[in-house]
Amino acid sequence: MNKKIVSPYLDLKRLKKPKDDFKNCINILKKKIKLDKKKIIDIGCANGEFLNFMISKYPNNYYCGVDINKSFLKIARKNNNLKKVKFINKNFVNVRIKSSFDIAICMGVSHSITNIDKLVSKLSSFVKKNGLIIIDGFFNDYDIDTKIYFKDYSNKKKKWQNDFNHFSKYTLSKILKKNKIRKYSFHNSFLKVNIPKRHKTKPQHFVWTELIGNKKIVTNGTNLILKRQFLIFKK
Ligand SMILES: C[S@@+](CC[C@H](N)C(=O)[O-])C[C@H]1O[C@@H](n2cnc3c(N)ncnc32)[C@H](O)[C@@H]1O
Repeated sequence: MNKKIVSPYLDLKRLKKPKDDFKNCINILKKKIKLDKKKIIDIGCANGEFLNFMISKYPNNYYCGVDINKSFLKIARKNNNLKKVKFINKNFVNVRIKSSFDIAICMGVSHSITNIDKLVSKLSSFVKKNGLIIIDGFFNDYDIDTKIYFKDYSNKKKKWQNDFNHFSKYTLSKILKKNKIRKYSFHNSFLKVNIPKRHKTKPQHFVWTELIGNKKIVTNGTNLILKRQFLIFKK
């Protein structure tokens, strides 16, 4: 059962099939702002697959991508569609840039950090006044924050990992208030695609979709329901 983790972000075939979450993110943004001639920063951009998708639809924006992982950025930098993108290889916490962006986007990061306070304030610092910030996560309707530590015996590295954290909307409302943000909203991010369980080839903490009655849920081997939402707010 010992499967080595090969990160999905090292697989370039993914660029051909943009994720539903990417489409959902753009649909939410589109309702708030005209997505043309804007300065956009993507935190946790990985191999640049969201930027690749966004540039195909909106080529006239200035784009910047930040990621802590050198190997992912190496792939992004080799992509011809992304040759105008400025990439920064840093932990977002250590990125110091002017508040010059119109939009800051952060997908797939909030559930793997323990300090969402820092993420909100840092993203806010990247955008100018009235700039938009959009973050996805497993935001809890109940007033409970959950930090998940798991050990996946189905993969080679059997060490404790922290991921799939759920922050409550209650906590986020407090953080936003502290940052003087009054107007914000949460939006569901439903998946149209079905993600198969691939336990023969993938570690069991990789996500899949499943039907409960006629409702599609996203889950994984941690036995959690992973209900993704977007939080959007204006600085
Ligand atoms: C789950 S992936 C999501 C990638 C992409 N945004 C998406 O939605 O498909 C999370 C990415 O965030 C990066 N990341 C995690 N923590 C980070 C941090 N503190 N600073 C910068 N990048 C980070 C990881 O290296 C990884 O590429």
